[in-house]
Order: sequence, then structure tokens, then C-alpha cells
Amino acid sequence: MDGAEIGIWDILLWGVLPYVVLAVVIGGTIWRYRYDQFGWTTRSSQLYESRLLRIASPLFHFGILAVLVGHIVGLIIPKSWTDTFGVTEDMYHVGALGIGGIAGIATLLGIAMLIWRRRTTGPVFMATTANDKFMYILLVGAILAGLATTVISVFDHSVTNYRETVSPWFRSIWILQPDVAAMAAAGLSFKVHVLWALALFMVWPFTRLVHAFTAPLHYFFRPYIVYRSRDARRGGQGSTPVRRGWDPIGTPDRERTGGRRR
Ligand code: HEM
Repeated sequence: MDGAEIGIWDILLWGVLPYVVLAVVIGGTIWRYRYDQFGWTTRSSQLYESRLLRIASPLFHFGILAVLVGHIVGLIIPKSWTDTFGVTEDMYHVGALGIGGIAGIATLLGIAMLIWRRRTTGPVFMATTANDKFMYILLVGAILAGLATTVISVFDHSVTNYRETVSPWFRSIWILQPDVAAMAAAGLSFKVHVLWALALFMVWPFTRLVHAFTAPLHYFFRPYIVYRSRDARRGGQGSTPVRRGWDPIGTPDRERTGGRRR
């Protein structure tokens, strides 16, 4: 891409940051896999509420899968290829707008329902950690910023065509020759969307989103989930705290002493 002014921020954001993000995603995922096998889960809340979840979850997941396919087509397939097949710029954008728009709205509706359910269903809200809340902000932000790019490009035709800016930049990352100028020439809405997405990728390995890397195969092989049951032999007071601390060597198991420590 020629002619665009490149500043130090362009180099840092579009030439350096993507590799920092890649290092964190790869390193963080390996770290999480090695040290947190039991935490590698969706932390499903289906046990607490399933009526809303049954609608909201597929809506969100199928929506985001379609958005992913759209991104693969838009970012990876060069414009020259679609030109060869006679797909004009207008045809491409009508398709991207129609299919991408429906997928994006389904995703947004799905996540809105999921968050509403999480906030209004007591036990689900109680099972929501600060980590989850932070992740939701980044996830919803990335989706909203993505949809904003689509909406803005409908009304503002001066917005540069992303298949000549964002897409070449995206491909250039993987061949280790970041085309900083291409991304620097993109419209502001695209820059905001990409930065938001990079922030989301950065926290991805440290959140529940890791399940996306292994779903659905992992479910057949994942370690068992530990549920504690009440100890019936203790007169129904299963949650009475047991004295904490180490027992001396030779102390028999509680199972073998009928629930009593000797
Ligand atoms: C570096 C990563 C990413 C890049 C370069 C990127 C780029 C783009 C571009 C160029 C568009 C405009 C598509 C169009 O109008 O035809 C777009 C739209 C969109 N993006 Fe992204 N994106 C990235 C990551 C993400 C992530 C992680 C999410 C969601 C979690 C996301 C969600 C969306 C949504 C919902 C749209 C609206 C159109 C649609 O539904 O496909 N993007 N993105």
C-alpha cells in the first residue's frame, strides 16, 4: 500500500502489537493447558437454568460461527480471486451485508439474552466471576464494533474498502511481513474493531473462552468434574466444616471410620 502516512503508533499498533497478542495467545494457552486442566471448561450453568439457555446459546454460537466463516472469506480470500470469478465489489458487499448482518445480529441477540439470563437468574449470577464480566465487556465490545463497521460502511461510502486495507494487513501478519501502511489507511471504525478484537484475543486463554479451542471434541475426553456430595453418615449435616489442617501420619480415612475422625 503506497501513499499513506505511517507514524510510530501505526508501527506499534499494526506492526508490533499483533505479534505480542500472538505470543500471549500461544504462550497463555499452553500455560493454561498445562496448569489448569480442571479449569478448562465452559463452567456451564445449565444446571441452574436451561429454558432461556436452550434458545440463547445456539443463537449466539451458530451466529458467531457464521461470523467466523464471514471473516475467513473476507480476510483470507484476496479480492483479486473473487474478481476472477466475476464477483463485483457491489455483489460482494451486498452478500457480506446480508449474510454478515444477519449473523452479526443473531450473535448480538444471543449474547444479549445470555447476559440478561446471567444477571437475572440468581444462581447463574452468583456463579459469575469478575473474570467473566471483564470477558463479556471485551466480547460484546468486539461484536458491537464489528457491526458498527458494517453499518457505517452502508451510510458512509467514503470509508475505505476493507478488502484493500484490513485484509492485506491481516494476511501479511502470517508471513511475518506486517503491511503497516495497509492497516494505517483503513477507516477509524475498522481500527477500533481490530483493536477491540486484539484485546479480546489477549485475554482469551485466561477466560472460559478456552472451550472454543477444544469444543466439541474435548467433551469426550475431558477430565471428570468434581462435585462434592453431602456426607449422609454425618446426620445430614454434610456441610458442617471438617477440622482443617493436616492429620498426623497413620490417621485412618474418614470413610473407614464411619465419618468420625479419631
Ligand atoms: C483481528 C481480528 C479481526 C479482524 C481483522 C476483523 C475484521 C472485520 C471486518 C473487516 C469486518 C467488516 C465486514 C463487513 O462489513 O463485511 C468485521 C465485521 C464484524 N466483526 Fe470482525 N474482525 C476481527 C475479529 C472479530 C472478533 C473476535 C469478533 C467477535 C467476537 C468480530 C465480530 C464481528 C462482527 C459481529 C462483524 C459484523 C459483520 C458480521 O456479522 O460479520 N470480529 N470484522
